[in-house]
Amino acid sequence: MAQGHALRKPKAQGHALLKPKAIMQAANSMETAELLEKMRRDWDQRARENARYYVVNSQEHWTDAEFFEGGRKTVANHILTDTINICQGREPREMKVLEIGCGAGRVTRALGELFGEVHAVDVSGEMVGLARAACRDQPNVFVYHNNGCDLEVLPPGPFDFAFSSCCFQHIPSYDVIENYIREIARLVRPGALFKFEVQGYVAMKSNPGDTWLGVPFSDEQVVELAEKCGFEARHRIGAGTEQFWLWYFKRVWPKKGT
Ligand SMILES: C[S@@+](CC[C@H](N)C(=O)[O-])C[C@H]1O[C@@H](n2cnc3c(N)ncnc32)[C@H](O)[C@@H]1O
Repeated sequence: MAQGHALRKPKAQGHALLKPKAIMQAANSMETAELLEKMRRDWDQRARENARYYVVNSQEHWTDAEFFEGGRKTVANHILTDTINICQGREPREMKVLEIGCGAGRVTRALGELFGEVHAVDVSGEMVGLARAACRDQPNVFVYHNNGCDLEVLPPGPFDFAFSSCCFQHIPSYDVIENYIREIARLVRPGALFKFEVQGYVAMKSNPGDTWLGVPFSDEQVVELAEKCGFEARHRIGAGTEQFWLWYFKRVWPKKGT
């Protein structure tokens, strides 16, 4: 449990910005605006219907204990086994971390038990409400409602680590995902890691009207995406599968043209 931290919640914890930022306008802003609105609506609906089921659909009903234990397992499997890459010699309690697509706070809560400060965003206001409730006794956890494509609601960085589980697999747009990667590059310190997963099953067809199935990435695509956004895709596990985990390290010296 995150105890003993005197960090106060910021007064404004974020609200939905439904207009895409300038960076997205290059990529067909009307379509993007509609997609962002649809993602918000669909995820709000899923959250109202059965949030925990849509977060982890291996069972329909989850007790609090089961649900938050699942988040601790995610942290145990993907963070505690990988502290050399993630902490890079820092004490977790001194680290400020960022989570994209926090859902009902399953992993957010476990991140708050480990790290000094956790800032989490989600496109769904309903999910944000649940995540805030889940972390209400954790003064080091801040949950923000964002617009589904940028991180303008967050305080300025630098962040020491960024994490996202099971979120980008639901985003049916390469532009939106690329925008997030650029935003994370803007906010994390040079050398820091963004560890996340994407859909790697390239035969899977994603449809822009469907906010459940995200766009798939090949191994070549994730390497290229990292390069153009100022990262190095140093490690990759699960190419070709639905859980394609990526280790993007922010370049200390950006390559020319990124
Ligand atoms: C399957 S849930 C996973 C939640 C959490 N990461 C976990 O593992 O418990 C996917 C979450 O991603 C959020 N999401 C989907 N598209 C998003 C977007 N474009 N920006 C931010 N959050 C998004 C959804 O609202 C939902 O809460």
